[in-house]
Amino acid sequence: MKNILVTGGTGFIGSHTCFSLLSEGYNVYVIDSLVNSSKKSLLYIEEIFRRKDIDISNKLRFFEGDIRKKDFINYIFKTALKEKKPIDGVIHFAGLKDVAESVIKPLNYWENNFFGSYNLIKSMKENNCKTIVFSSSATVYGFSSDNLLSEDTQLKPINPYGSTKLAVEKLLNDITQDANENWKIAILRYFNPIGSHESGLIGENPFQKPNNIFPAIINSAYTKEKLKVFGNDWPTKDGTCIRDYIHVMDLAESHLKSLNYLIENDPQLLILNIGKGRGISVIELIKTFENVNNISVPFEFDKRREGDVCQLVADNSKLKSILNWSPTKSLEEMCIDGWKWKNLNPKGYL
Ligand code: NAD
Ligand code: UD1
Repeated sequence: MKNILVTGGTGFIGSHTCFSLLSEGYNVYVIDSLVNSSKKSLLYIEEIFRRKDIDISNKLRFFEGDIRKKDFINYIFKTALKEKKPIDGVIHFAGLKDVAESVIKPLNYWENNFFGSYNLIKSMKENNCKTIVFSSSATVYGFSSDNLLSEDTQLKPINPYGSTKLAVEKLLNDITQDANENWKIAILRYFNPIGSHESGLIGENPFQKPNNIFPAIINSAYTKEKLKVFGNDWPTKDGTCIRDYIHVMDLAESHLKSLNYLIENDPQLLILNIGKGRGISVIELIKTFENVNNISVPFEFDKRREGDVCQLVADNSKLKSILNWSPTKSLEEMCIDGWKWKNLNPKGYL
């Protein structure tokens, strides 16, 4: 398997995964509508390789387009075939991910995340490509009192974004029921990816004011505007919420490991939590960021964020046992690399 279609490949996780795929010698076809990203991320990927005297320009193809248009996806499959690089598998990142926006614009989220995925899967079937790795999220678990979330934890998403992720999971589950179809599917439920490639050349590039904690920390460190920490009265060691942060390069690597696992094994549906399995509080994250980067992050406590969950930490034992792999990069590396990206690109990909 050498030729991979990456949907959403110019985005945060997609661009890092494209880098990892190219490092392993894959040919990469990217489709992205650029609704939340810039195609400059691909130029910077080329630059990382150029600095090592490696030319990957003929291994990376970009198609600007929308997965809501099936004909366009078909066109990419046909183009790859014509180039004698038939697409063997798909890594599917394309989608909208802003939880608050999904509450205001649920139809947008269903159209992009569900209908877009439905189109992609139909196009894959038409083009006889039956291997896919799908970006799901720990958000499918909703509120849970479990200290560690295993893949068997009840699925109860609490917002439209989470509902669309769960709906795609169900669709993927349904198509694997027909054994004649031979689908090979991995559903990866990400916990909290942060950081950037160690070069600082690619990273997270939010178009709007960041809602997630890590870009918000970076923003406060840079602008000295006070970060609002949502709640210091949670039942945790320091009163702030606990999350399971994972370096985006580890997350990227998990896609390659999953892809290889699917290639080497019989058709199946594999569901994996992708996290480090270690809970970090908001205060711990801020303090680590300050210490390793020798910079202050001004913050104040605010009231709890509506819909927030006290603790989300992965039970990643299935990941370790099935892929024989686990994330290795430390919280310190996440903070150093993320800050490097900001300093090299204060305005993102502008
Ligand atoms: P991102 O917004 O940076 O990347 C998503 C990409 O998809 C963007 O480049 C966007 O332009 C593209 N896109 C959106 N709708 C499209 C469409 N209809 N057609 C073509 N392209 C489209 O987000 P990310 O953080 O890289 O997330 C990637 C995936 O992982 C998403 O599906 C997201 O829901 C999921 N996820 C992300 C996180 C996280 O914390 N970042 C956590 C769990 C799951
Ligand atoms: C959020 C989404 C989740 C999505 C994930 C990754 C919600 C309810 N959940 O999860 O669906 O999969 O992002 O995109 O939005 N915090 C602050 N101040 C801030 C921002 C965040 O204190 O300015 C706190 C939050 O209260 C939370 C922690 O930081 O305790 C992490 O927040 P965030 O980065 O938004 O991630 P999640 O809440 O895990």
